[in-house]
Amino acid sequence: MKGILFCLYSSLCIYYNEGTVTLPQNISVPAVIAFGDSLMDQGNNNHIKTILKANFPPYGMDFINGNPTGRFSNGKTLADFFAKGFGVKEYLPAYLDPLIHDKDLVTGVSFASGGAGYDPLTSKLSNVMPLSVQLKMFKQYIGKLKRNIGEKDATDIITNSVFLVSAGTNDFLVNYFTFPIRRLQYDVPAYSNKLVKLAKSFIQEIHKLGARRIAVISTSAIGCIPIERTLAGGARRICVDKYNKASQLFNSMLKLQLQILERTLPKSRIAFSDFYDPLMSIIDNPQEYGLEVTHRGCCGTGELEMSYLCNKRMTRTCHNDSNFFFWDSLHPTENGCDIFVNLVLPDMIKNLF
Ligand SMILES: *[C@@H]1O[C@H](CO)[C@@H](O)[C@H](O)[C@H]1NC(C)=O
Ligand SMILES: *[C@@H]1O[C@H](CO)[C@@H](O)[C@H](O)[C@H]1NC(C)=O
Repeated sequence: MKGILFCLYSSLCIYYNEGTVTLPQNISVPAVIAFGDSLMDQGNNNHIKTILKANFPPYGMDFINGNPTGRFSNGKTLADFFAKGFGVKEYLPAYLDPLIHDKDLVTGVSFASGGAGYDPLTSKLSNVMPLSVQLKMFKQYIGKLKRNIGEKDATDIITNSVFLVSAGTNDFLVNYFTFPIRRLQYDVPAYSNKLVKLAKSFIQEIHKLGARRIAVISTSAIGCIPIERTLAGGARRICVDKYNKASQLFNSMLKLQLQILERTLPKSRIAFSDFYDPLMSIIDNPQEYGLEVTHRGCCGTGELEMSYLCNKRMTRTCHNDSNFFFWDSLHPTENGCDIFVNLVLPDMIKNLF
């Protein structure tokens, strides 16, 4: 990839070189704080009673010492690459990790729980932590931070941190299109509207607690995720148009409502971060991103295996996961995460600062 100069304003440019985005010099981010689902779960689910975990091999096979930390990846996750991209740190820890130190809190943590959604029913279906519980943990975190470094410094950190919110995918894939309850109550536009309202109220809650720079991650091309191709894409495993359409509708409603919300919340920057087009671009042009396989995952056959189904009994796991975008049938590889964050970060920076 050749270097390109990406300019936000005439005076504020980012040099995008060989896949590395660097922050403009006058921007400094003290901490990254993540909420939501498995894209941001750094191991919180290890500590709750759910079967949706990733703390066993081959998860983590390319992490330090091949350690399966609970990240839904062979190595680092999107959250880790965002933390690095914002110049904060290499690894974003899980808030529930018992080994976490007070000094780790200062640069941010993740409260995300794999399987969670905006709809409380979604989290209930997988027995994972809903956003309401993640919010409670955030309040507890603020209390700890204030006790550790004092009220003023803690407030400064919260004010200047980047908040990442990743949810919506499980609401459609695990809940709406799989279980009948919500489908009987809502059509896709009405359910999208409900999810957007829930997203807005969550953002208002974290804003009340001091968050100012909030990046809300859109749903991706959810019909092209390997497991959905297998379950609903027919014999040729094509992308599921119905799911992609739902995702696009939800995203357009979310984008509009976030713009309105940003105007009503004092001193806030609320960035809609599009994950749909970047994923489509990678899936359609793997070679442009130095990848080979984007229609199935690396673990096992790559068509169905994820979480407990992706385990050390998998014999057909791919030879070189850095050529794959997907690690399991749902989550990107470390290399996939790296490529993806480089793709979406310039836009996120533009919309947050
Ligand atoms: C960084 O500097 C540019 C150009 O002086 C300015 O427009 C922008 O608001 C600054 N950003 C921050 C976060 O201070
Ligand atoms: C895996 O593929 C990458 C990219 O094509 C290459 O750089 C690397 O050397 C390969 N690793 C192994 C172990 O073959």
